[in-house]
Amino acid sequence: HMKRRKRWNNYPPGPVSFPFIGNLLQINFQCPRLALTEPTEKFGKIFSLQVGWKNVVVLNGLEAVKEALVQRSEDFADRPPFSLFDHLGYRKNCEGIMMARYGRGWKELRRFTLSTLRNFGLGKKSLDQRVTEEAGYLCSAFSSKDGHSFNPRFLINSAVGNVMCSLTFGNRFEYNNEKFLRMLHLIEEAFNIGAGIMSQILNMMPWLLYIPGPHHNIFQPYADSFDILREIVKKHKETRDPGFTRDFIDAFLEEIEKAKMDPESTFSEDNLIFTVFDLFGAATETTTVTLCWALLFMLCYPDVQRRVHEEIDKVIGRDRSPEIEDQVNLPYTNAVIYETQRYCDVVFAGVPRTTYRDTEVQGFFIPKGTTIIAVLSSVLKDEMIWEKPHQFYPEHFLDADGQFVKQEAFLPFSAGRRMCLGEQLARKELFLFFATLLQHFTFHIPEGQPRPQEDGCYILIHSPDSYELCAIPR
Ligand code: HEM
Repeated sequence: HMKRRKRWNNYPPGPVSFPFIGNLLQINFQCPRLALTEPTEKFGKIFSLQVGWKNVVVLNGLEAVKEALVQRSEDFADRPPFSLFDHLGYRKNCEGIMMARYGRGWKELRRFTLSTLRNFGLGKKSLDQRVTEEAGYLCSAFSSKDGHSFNPRFLINSAVGNVMCSLTFGNRFEYNNEKFLRMLHLIEEAFNIGAGIMSQILNMMPWLLYIPGPHHNIFQPYADSFDILREIVKKHKETRDPGFTRDFIDAFLEEIEKAKMDPESTFSEDNLIFTVFDLFGAATETTTVTLCWALLFMLCYPDVQRRVHEEIDKVIGRDRSPEIEDQVNLPYTNAVIYETQRYCDVVFAGVPRTTYRDTEVQGFFIPKGTTIIAVLSSVLKDEMIWEKPHQFYPEHFLDADGQFVKQEAFLPFSAGRRMCLGEQLARKELFLFFATLLQHFTFHIPEGQPRPQEDGCYILIHSPDSYELCAIPR
């Protein structure tokens, strides 16, 4: 590899790498965000790293990220191979959706998933109804705290998890249902392991799996999550009425039946399990953490909170629940939600891609099979673009008349062929949960507690340090 890299003309520059381990020792694992942005000072916005024997190219800033993900969408549409999961039954055309290789299987699955989630007639209730209903339960749970201080994360996570349960399984759960909490916890744990450093190492050195040791335990949360999901799918098969699609699982079972004669089909029972697992993993933590940031900013910026209250009072009042149609009439509230997503850059390093063929970005040559990291944080905080990139400033999304304006560099869901498939759903949840909570409560820092930290911690995603709030009914 070292030799080949030298022969490539115009390959992006990067730190000198050591044999075998590459740049592993130079990478700042304490702060992955700095590891991806610091080298730009020396090497520019596009630089290369060698991780083990893998070639990695890191893209920073709107221009580079847009050229790669949007203009050369297909060239960057693949995901890195993840042979680690072969062990769990992953194989060609049966690898879930998130890490699926670019090709027919992924395309069919993505099209199916998008249209099924979008399908408003699914089951008895529309998507909007399901989210609005859950927002109501979330408010009741906040009320039951009686103004005492609490960490909102647990309840928000249950509400967000319930929207996914409702869409995929056809029902929601009480927030204290132990099976439900165990499932959410296991999927989160497994998902974090999959994205974590240990699994990256095992992925690079799969022979480690032939040696006994604690690293084998990392598969347990996966196996347990899959068991729970298999049980739910089994129940669905037993109670299914072929004339009536209750939820995502029913819709998927229909596709499996249609594809019975096609052994290569992406619609199989294993892939149903892997896909549902991916949807929960991709949807729950991201949306939960974004909402936790939104409330944290309300604590830190009481003036912003006051303006949101005023706007909601004026446009919706107190007597009816916010609906998705209200969004266009609430430019300030909407700008606060967009600014929350920009400033908190939850998925700060995106999800790794791989080049599908030899290609180039900004004149640099990038060969097929290179791992690509598009640093979304560097776009959301691009100093060439945003007026106050490192401050919470909802005016980024408002024009002089106070009307909402979209921004090209607003890419929290990434862009191009592999961009977030749940954007519509996430948007609905962020708006309806946030607006409903703000309609009902004023949020305070609990007495005697310090102002919560705005920097949080960048590991796999950027989450706030845990904090407490008081929700005072309005
Ligand atoms: C992928 C962000 C919510 C499902 C992604 C990616 C990002 C992202 C940055 C990587 C895209 C890429 O490779 O370019 C977010 C954020 C969310 C959110 C910030 C909430 C605030 C959701 C929800 C769902 C979801 C609610 C479920 C319906 C997915 C899936 C993928 C994905 C399935 C993989 C897509 C593929 O590889 O084709 N998301 N997401 N996400 N997201 Fe989301």
